[in-house]
Amino acid sequence: MNMYEAIGTTPAATTERKASDRSRSDVCPTARAIPMSNGRTIVVRPVRQQDEADLSDLYDGLDIGDRYLRFFSAYRPTRDFIHKLANPAPREARAVAELNEPGGRRLVGEAGYSLLTNGNGEFEMVVARDWRGWLGPYLLDVVIQIAAGNGVPNLEAEVLARNTSMVAALRAHGCVRLGHAGWNECRLMVGTGRQGPTWSDADDRPHVLVETSGAGWPLEAAAECAGMRVITCGGPTRDHSCPVVSGHECALVTGADAIVVRNASPKPIWKTVTRNHTCSHPDIPVLIDPLGDHAQAMTIDDVRVPAFLHFHLQTARRSGAPDSRR
Ligand SMILES: CC(C)(COP(=O)(O)OP(=O)(O)OC[C@H]1O[C@@H](n2cnc3c(N)ncnc32)[C@H](O)[C@@H]1OP(=O)(O)O)[C@@H](O)C(=O)NCCC(=O)NCCS
Repeated sequence: MNMYEAIGTTPAATTERKASDRSRSDVCPTARAIPMSNGRTIVVRPVRQQDEADLSDLYDGLDIGDRYLRFFSAYRPTRDFIHKLANPAPREARAVAELNEPGGRRLVGEAGYSLLTNGNGEFEMVVARDWRGWLGPYLLDVVIQIAAGNGVPNLEAEVLARNTSMVAALRAHGCVRLGHAGWNECRLMVGTGRQGPTWSDADDRPHVLVETSGAGWPLEAAAECAGMRVITCGGPTRDHSCPVVSGHECALVTGADAIVVRNASPKPIWKTVTRNHTCSHPDIPVLIDPLGDHAQAMTIDDVRVPAFLHFHLQTARRSGAPDSRR
């Protein structure tokens, strides 16, 4: 099934609301009916308590490879797991994609998030194999809109590095990386608001933003051990423009105590990024981590000193007044 089989997928063009479509999340999105070929329709709507059996069928239909991508193991969801999917807590949300065809109806996808203690949402989704190719990114869009409406600033997801579909769908929303457990999996985060991804208010460690077009920053683990919070951004990419390049504010930049630009790309756009940081925020230390022959040049103290000093100065400057950023 490809995307072009869907007619008028613009949500506003195909929206219908029924009394029975009431969401259990605080923000109640309308159901979106997407006409498909052969008299079929996909209805994307908030999950309902009565969906438990259909959610079980959706998960029963996953093969071992899909289970591994979704759960990092051959896990088969328990009744309790399915019950939680069908009953999101307040400010949590889940959307399902229901296929209605002349022969009957079934769920062909589900996506949603549960709340984390840092105020963000933990995102996960599944699409039945015969409906992949567009539905995953569509559901992600829907859930991002709901999360934004519920005041959830970011959605985080634990993703296997080889899960190219999931990584690509999140990349299309300008995801950043929150560290990784080895090279096999990574933790990605998308922002739900216009300002893109944000630092968590619940985290009072000095914030180090790493910008790199290449692989990760070798000092990341050392920086986290030294008490810093590291977020890695891929900067301007083919899939997603960088607000800094287009002269807009980036919440990760304005909230950083130090920025490391790991300059892997000779492209002029990276010079623009670095120059814009120093022009727009001369108070935030920007460190260039050289590659190639000078790859060993940076040590953790090159970052620790400016990051902690800046953090200390920022906090002292605000003493007496509540710090709005932390
Ligand atoms: C992850 C999943 C929900 C994605 O849904 P989907 O409908 O298959 O999504 P798509 O096929 O449209 O792929 C999403 C993106 O990946 C891209 N993509 C797909 N296969 C790709 C590949 N082999 N290499 C690079 N990009 C790829 C698509 O082009 C698309 O990008 P776009 O939105 O920019 O066009 C679905 O594959 C799934 O259910 N997988 C099993 C469970 C799982 O992995 N869940 C996620 C973990 S929580």
